[in-house]
Amino acid sequence: MPDDFPSLQQSTLTTPSQEQSVEFYRQQHKLRLSYMPWLYATLKPAHREWAESWQLNIQTYFQAMETIQIGKNCFIAPEAKLFAEPGRPIVIGDNSFIAADAVIHGPVTLGEYVSINHHVTMDGGSKGIYVGNNTRIAAYCQLYAFNHGMQADQLISEQPTRSLGIHIGCDVWLGANVGVVDGVSIDNNAIVGMGSQVTRNVEEYNIVAGNPARIIGDRRDKK
Ligand SMILES: CC(C)(COP(=O)(O)OP(=O)(O)OC[C@H]1O[C@@H](n2cnc3c(N)ncnc32)[C@H](O)[C@@H]1OP(=O)(O)O)[C@@H](O)C(=O)NCCC(=O)NCCS
Repeated sequence: MPDDFPSLQQSTLTTPSQEQSVEFYRQQHKLRLSYMPWLYATLKPAHREWAESWQLNIQTYFQAMETIQIGKNCFIAPEAKLFAEPGRPIVIGDNSFIAADAVIHGPVTLGEYVSINHHVTMDGGSKGIYVGNNTRIAAYCQLYAFNHGMQADQLISEQPTRSLGIHIGCDVWLGANVGVVDGVSIDNNAIVGMGSQVTRNVEEYNIVAGNPARIIGDRRDKK
């Protein structure tokens, strides 16, 4: 709940002014957009006006604080956590959305019309995560583009991490709670079923599911 959330007492025990009432509903509307950001694209003009100026503030803040480039017409939830340093940027293409409670650490590049839903975690390691145009990444997915060194004669915490990078193509759908390990490529038009762990490359149009994810179908057979 935002810190400036109007108090229940204010709204129910006393008659709120029209201004308080508008603000009360607007706070809930903002939260709805934060968790379902695809709704931003279909806002009616009266809502779009305040939402755009709200988004301008949020996006200006992120771009001032972190090494982040945000394209046109994007929606970034204020509850998203975005971290990017020089050499580890986050680049967000036009018309892309990042929902509340996503945690993204660059290097990460998102194409256009990409949707990152709530509670997604993406860490680009050093080689980065790339996501192509029109790809949907559902809630609670976890993409980690690095592994710890694993030699037995040394503490894991003392070994350097290694990163190969993760590549997700265009028009890919990762269902909710999917994991993707470092080094994996998921090609254009593929689908990964809910709860799957992707440890090997996925070819285009394949539908994969399970842990470890295996082919369960081909999207070209779908009617
Ligand atoms: C993968 C999915 C899209 C279904 O694809 P489908 O081609 O229609 O697959 P089917 O339902 O015909 O299932 C084919 C086989 O895969 C299995 N399967 C389907 N989804 C699975 C999953 N997520 N994990 C493990 N196995 C799965 C089925 O049990 C079935 O196995 P069987 O042949 O032994 O009975 C769907 O199950 C899914 O996971 N959707 C994601 C939903 C989601 O995350 N929504 C969030 C909103 S963005």
